[in-house]
Amino acid sequence: MFKIIVVENYDEASREAFKVMKEVIDSNERPVLGLATGSTPIGLYKKMMADHKTGTSYKKCITFNLDEYIGLPKTHEQTYYTFMHDNLFNGLDIPEENIHIPVGDSANVPAECIKYEEAMKEYHIDIQLLGIGGNGHIGFNEPGTPFDTLTHIVDLQEKTRQDNARFFEHIDEVPTQAITMGIATIMKSKKVLLIATGENKADAIYGMIKGPVSEACPASALQNHNDVVVIVDKAAASKL
Ligand code: PGA
Repeated sequence: MFKIIVVENYDEASREAFKVMKEVIDSNERPVLGLATGSTPIGLYKKMMADHKTGTSYKKCITFNLDEYIGLPKTHEQTYYTFMHDNLFNGLDIPEENIHIPVGDSANVPAECIKYEEAMKEYHIDIQLLGIGGNGHIGFNEPGTPFDTLTHIVDLQEKTRQDNARFFEHIDEVPTQAITMGIATIMKSKKVLLIATGENKADAIYGMIKGPVSEACPASALQNHNDVVVIVDKAAASKL
């Protein structure tokens, strides 16, 4: 079930998302947060860091990130480990042992996927934050991903590698694989908070909410989740 909140702009989207996130954090003894990378959550993360600066502790939070590149050392500037520390964790007081990000330079990546899924079984995710790709992807679950997948290894599509090449010196350095929570993993979270702004997300938002439930639009799986808050600006909502 979708609760759709239409806002004017990105800043308002971040403000509304912060309210939803904060409510979950305040109402749980041990909030388990599923987090995401990309440009969309940065505004929300800034609000969480500002909240911490004014005295709120985030110590009791446990976090699980959606995905990570395979093959880059953890401290490489383009890993999601680095992104999350630069854009959120360094500005909060969550103990490092409470932070979970798939280990993309593990010697045994398939075992890492199983271990990650097991860890999430122990801590049921209270709120999973998501962005959405222009093609409807969530995490690195591209169109065609079966809905029953758990945390798994994906081969990155050439288009995704090209999109991300701007962050690397050369396209050859862009990883070819990633670890991602699967759609079935995402569906297990108690609540989903999906933020999308900009016209280039309008087709994906339409597909997610009004399209058929189909692997062609991975986000359409969320039609079968009972608690999804969607925060969209007018441009992203324009095709609804
Ligand atoms: P973005 O990416 O937040 O950078 O738009 C979202 C996504 O591709 O999931």
